[in-house]
Amino acid sequence: MSKLVTIFGGSGFVGRYIARRMAKEGWRVRVAVRRPNEAIFVRPYGAVGQVEPILANIRDDASVAAAIAGADAVVNCVGVLTERGKNGFEAVQTEGAARIARLAAEAGVGQLVHLSAIGANAESDSDYARSKAEGEAAVQAHFPGAVILRPSVIFGTEDEFFNRFAKMTKLGPVLPLVGGNSRFQPVYVDDVAKAAVAGVLGQAEAGIYELGGPDVETLHDLMVKMLGVIRRRRLIVNLPFWVGSVMAFGFGAMQALTVGLIHNGVLTRDQVRQLRRDNVVSDGAKGFADLGIDPTDMDAVLAEYLWVYRPGGQYSALQDSARNLRNT
Ligand SMILES: NC(=O)c1ccc[n+]([C@@H]2O[C@H](COP(=O)([O-])OP(=O)(O)OC[C@H]3O[C@@H](n4cnc5c(N)ncnc54)[C@H](OP(=O)(O)O)[C@@H]3O)[C@@H](O)[C@H]2O)c1
Repeated sequence: MSKLVTIFGGSGFVGRYIARRMAKEGWRVRVAVRRPNEAIFVRPYGAVGQVEPILANIRDDASVAAAIAGADAVVNCVGVLTERGKNGFEAVQTEGAARIARLAAEAGVGQLVHLSAIGANAESDSDYARSKAEGEAAVQAHFPGAVILRPSVIFGTEDEFFNRFAKMTKLGPVLPLVGGNSRFQPVYVDDVAKAAVAGVLGQAEAGIYELGGPDVETLHDLMVKMLGVIRRRRLIVNLPFWVGSVMAFGFGAMQALTVGLIHNGVLTRDQVRQLRRDNVVSDGAKGFADLGIDPTDMDAVLAEYLWVYRPGGQYSALQDSARNLRNT
C-alpha cells in the first residue's frame, strides 16, 4: 500500500501544488478542508482514488483526528490573511496549528510540515504575525521534528498578490500603494511546494526555513515590474501609513456596520502594521539552499499568467504582430 499524506488546506493556493507533487511521488493524498465539494478539482492530480478531498475543520479535534488517522505524514497549509467569523488568526494559526501538531504526534505520524510566514514574531504588534509565531512555538512543542516553512509573499497563477494589483489597474489611472518602500522577496508557489515535499519525504532537517525568491524588491518596484508585464501605464502613488490606517479603519467600519455581510478583503489595519516591515529572508536563516532547491526567477513566470490583464488579453500577441507588420 502506498504511503498516505494528509494536507490540511490542500485545496488552497499553495496546498494544491503540494498535493499535485505528492501524487506524482506516488503517495495517496487526503485533502482536508471545510468545503470538500469545492475541492474536487484536486482528484485528477492522481490516479482514480489517489487524491481525495475530505471534510475537516482545524478548529475541531474530532475532524482533525479523523483526517490524520492512518497518515504517514501531515502538511498544514491553513492560514488566514484576514479574519472571517470564527476563522480568526488565533483560532486557525495558533490553536489550529497546535491541534494538528498535537494530534499528529499522538497518532504517531512520521513527518509534519507546517506553513508559517516570514515576519512571524511573538512580540509583533500585528495579530497575524503574532499568531503565526505562537503557532510555530506550539508546533515545535508538540512535534519537535516538524519542518516549518516561512515563505515571503508567494507568486503563481492563482496568487492574491500580483493578480490583485493587476485587477486594480482596471479601476482607473492611479495605483495607490501602502508600504511602497517596504521590501519583499517573492517566492514561486511551486518552489514552496518542493520545500514541503522535501519535508514530507524526510529530506529536510527539523526546524524553521525562510523561503524567498532570488530577487528582493520594494513593493513599488514590484508594481513597476507588474505594469511592464501587463503593458499598462498607471501612476503609482505611495500613500503614507497613516492614510493607509485611516482607509483600513473605514473598510473595517463598513464590515462592522454590515455585520460582516460586506467583508473587508481590501486592506485591514493589521495588514498596514505588517506592511511597515520588510518581508525578506533574515540573515543566517535556513532556506532553499539547505533544501537543495534553486528558487525560480519572477521574470520567468509572471508573463505566463498576468497576460490576461494586458489591454488585448489573449489577443495581445496578435495585436503586437499586426503592429509590427504595419511598421515594416
Ligand atoms: N499566499 C501567500 O502569499 C503566503 C505568504 C506567506 C505565508 N503563507 C502561508 O501559507 C499557507 C497557505 O496559504 P495559501 O495562500 O495557500 O492559503 P489559501 O489559498 O487561503 O488556502 C487556505 C486553505 O485552507 C482551507 N481552510 C481554511 N480554513 C480552514 C479550516 N478552519 N479548517 C480546514 N481548512 C481550512 C481552505 O479551504 P476551505 O475554505 O474549503 O476550508 C483552503 O484550502 C498559509 O499558512 C499562509 O499563511 C501564504
